[in-house]
Amino acid sequence: MAIKTVGVIGAGQMGAGIAHVCALAGYDVLLHDLAVDRLERGIATINGNMARQVASEKLTEQDRSDAMKRIRGVSEVEDLAGVDMVIEAATENESVKRKIFAQLCPILNPEAILATNTSSISITRLAATTDRPERFIGIHFMNPVPVMKLVELVRGIATEEQTFAQAQEFVASLGKQITVSEDFPAFIVNRILLPMINEAVYTLYEGVGSVVAIDTAMKLGANHPMGPLQLADFIGLDTCLSIMQVLYEGLSDSKYRPCPLLVKYVEAGWLGRKTGRGFYDYRGEEPVPTR
Ligand code: CAA
Repeated sequence: MAIKTVGVIGAGQMGAGIAHVCALAGYDVLLHDLAVDRLERGIATINGNMARQVASEKLTEQDRSDAMKRIRGVSEVEDLAGVDMVIEAATENESVKRKIFAQLCPILNPEAILATNTSSISITRLAATTDRPERFIGIHFMNPVPVMKLVELVRGIATEEQTFAQAQEFVASLGKQITVSEDFPAFIVNRILLPMINEAVYTLYEGVGSVVAIDTAMKLGANHPMGPLQLADFIGLDTCLSIMQVLYEGLSDSKYRPCPLLVKYVEAGWLGRKTGRGFYDYRGEEPVPTR
């Protein structure tokens, strides 16, 4: 079955980015979110990011307007009945994801592929809660999706070869490069990236350096495009914490224990850029470190 229409669940930063690249590649996209305001914000974000690409001559105005016409926001799961593939990009919480799949499966075409953008949760376990573990796969995009070249593909234990091949072809059609990861906690990118971010938070917690010192050290000393605390704010501190918890519990190894300071920021609701405050305060003109 050829993929023509893609359903994307969740209009947050990842869902919006996925809808963006799918629409530019010529797919019809149904972007679903329960919250209508989030849906509207997501579509406005896509439009703004495409406008940025027009301004830097990566896209023409015609490409932007054609792609925007291919995206439709929907707030009922039933609206996704006719899609060929669903990419779930809801919040990084296993019970939320399970509920979504439980609602979705009965209304989808039996041939439709079910994909999740989870950054850390077991594909095999999520697949087992659905009616189609053989047509279930992890397609993990990186943030910001329109810019980052990599997509991790993760097979669950039951994923069929045909599903993998279709997902591979689909990702290539988006102009992205794949890397294949086995289904173990946090896959490849986050298995390596998140312990580094968590260690940066420990470095702050133990007073080894300030927010600015730590970020400057890694930007100029290791040539990272963003410092680890800046990157944590960009990813979302709630997402960072949940990935550390998946590593800690999934591998039963104390080296992955989440830093108490990361937990405190999340408890405060200081989740990074999306809430206006994290390791930096973004509410003024320039980000100001919060420690
Ligand atoms: N949509 C479209 N274009 C975007 C964009 C977006 N959301 N964000 C940035 N861009 C474009 C800009 O328009 C700009 O384009 P031009 O070069 O054509 O002008 C280009 O990207 C660079 O952006 P900026 O000049 O604004 O800023 P920058 O040079 O600092 O780059 C960045 C921004 C690409 C985000 C860079 O800082 C970076 O690569 N940071 C690291 C990102 C990273 O590590 N991501 C992975 C996170 S982990 C993850 O996603 C996995 C997970 O599960 C948690």
